[in-house]
Amino acid sequence: MGFNVAIDGPAGAGKSTIAKLVAAEEGLVYVDTGAMYRGLAVYFLGLGISAEETDRLAAACREVTMEIGYAGSVQQVYVNGENITGRLREESVGNMASRCAAVPAVRECLLDLQRRLAKTQNVIMDGRDIGTCVLPQADLKIFLTASVETRARRRYLELKEKGVACDLEEIAADIRERDERDSTRKTAPLKQAADAVLIDSSDLSIEEVVAVIASLCREKRKTPN
Ligand code: DC
Repeated sequence: MGFNVAIDGPAGAGKSTIAKLVAAEEGLVYVDTGAMYRGLAVYFLGLGISAEETDRLAAACREVTMEIGYAGSVQQVYVNGENITGRLREESVGNMASRCAAVPAVRECLLDLQRRLAKTQNVIMDGRDIGTCVLPQADLKIFLTASVETRARRRYLELKEKGVACDLEEIAADIRERDERDSTRKTAPLKQAADAVLIDSSDLSIEEVVAVIASLCREKRKTPN
């Protein structure tokens, strides 16, 4: 088993930004599990399957292969041998990912890959159920959150910077809807693990959050579980 750090939390809490920086500082491999759900979403959308067609989703899962690679430190997702990383951030893909992530067969399809990656290397893995389901024995668990308003404002500024027209209220509504769906689904809902450290990043800078988590990593490496 490698040294494993789990970071869970709602959409837009800054998990991937923080996890990448902690990974670089602590020499860990960053594993983005949301990208895996997004990868499957690209595949399902390509097959014309909707999130409600659970039998078809399950059948498609039996046919798919997913692999994770790295271009430098940037995670790449391969679906049936094709690198589909460039499509992962599309809005329709994010929505489909959130919907199909509620389907047990879809979660089952990714579980083995996620556990295998954590077994063979030192990882910091972000998602919704890493501390509760995927890696319940993780050396360090973080639950990273921020208020809906803060998360919506961050997303708004990010999109504006890219020149994408957007509306703050619409973004906040979308975040609320995604939170509700991710945390109320029956299988592996978004939930803080009992032994996770809660960090609310609403009033903290990225550097401050990274410093807290990096310091917790160093402590845990000195005195493992
Ligand atoms: O973190 P993200 O926004 O890229 O994730 C996309 C969707 O995938 C998210 O709405 C919920 C789902 N997801 C999940 O259910 N479990 C995970 N471990 C990671 C993501």
